[in-house]
Amino acid sequence: MGISAYEDDLLAAIYDEDNPDGPDHDYFRALADELSAATITDLGCGTGILTVTLSGAGRRIIGIDPVAAMLSRAAARPGGTGVEWRLGMSELIDRDANDLIIMSGNVAMHILGNEWTTSLVDITRGLRPGGRLVFESRNPQARGWTAWNAPAEVRQTAVGRLRESATASQPDGNGIVTMVCSNDFIDAGHAVETTLRLQFRSHETLTRDLEAAGLQMDRVWSDWQRTPFTGTAAEQLMVIEAVKPAT
Ligand SMILES: C[S@@+](CC[C@H](N)C(=O)[O-])C[C@H]1O[C@@H](n2cnc3c(N)ncnc32)[C@H](O)[C@@H]1O
Repeated sequence: MGISAYEDDLLAAIYDEDNPDGPDHDYFRALADELSAATITDLGCGTGILTVTLSGAGRRIIGIDPVAAMLSRAAARPGGTGVEWRLGMSELIDRDANDLIIMSGNVAMHILGNEWTTSLVDITRGLRPGGRLVFESRNPQARGWTAWNAPAEVRQTAVGRLRESATASQPDGNGIVTMVCSNDFIDAGHAVETTLRLQFRSHETLTRDLEAAGLQMDRVWSDWQRTPFTGTAAEQLMVIEAVKPAT
């Protein structure tokens, strides 16, 4: 099995050009403003492309990620000094401190099995009463993994030509899809195979998991423009806002 895509320095170097700022980040920023969130943790912050843009007057921003190749880019980016960066996972979330905890870029799907349960407990502890967790997750009914097989293609990147291909499994009994990618940086003379494991969870499963951790599912959207999620297979995305009860 290959390493995770995030652990490779060259893949980390092209992460931002493959995953630029867009409507998802606009949504997270708008929500933070609407909540007047004073303390925000971005869990699985990656290269910090969203994290640094959450900064504002009187706001405290914390970015947490377990992968050094990603977090070192985050700390070095313009605006990076305005964020507290932490190498690790949910155990590093400050307790009873956060108005908002964000997991952007499908981070929730990267957190598998028991680690998901533990992370939700840490998140609940980390929120102030009335605080909010927000994240997106792919709707398993839309069977998005069927479009993830990709034949070999060469494209230009900031670090030269990249030949890449991908194969994706069917979900296992726990909804986990394994995606194996071959990445050959032709000009850099660097080839690496990466493995991503992503867990698809239904709306019902997410509702149950959140409740078990002490959070209440609140609003669920099917896109970044806040169209309500109705639970049909045509909806690829669930954007989930969960609240820690005030009492
Ligand atoms: C697709 S990237 C998203 C990065 C960033 N949130 C964004 O929107 O650009 C997924 C990130 O999740 C992180 N990650 C993987 N497992 C994690 C875990 N158990 N807890 C927190 N973050 C995790 C990875 O290191 C990676 O940086």
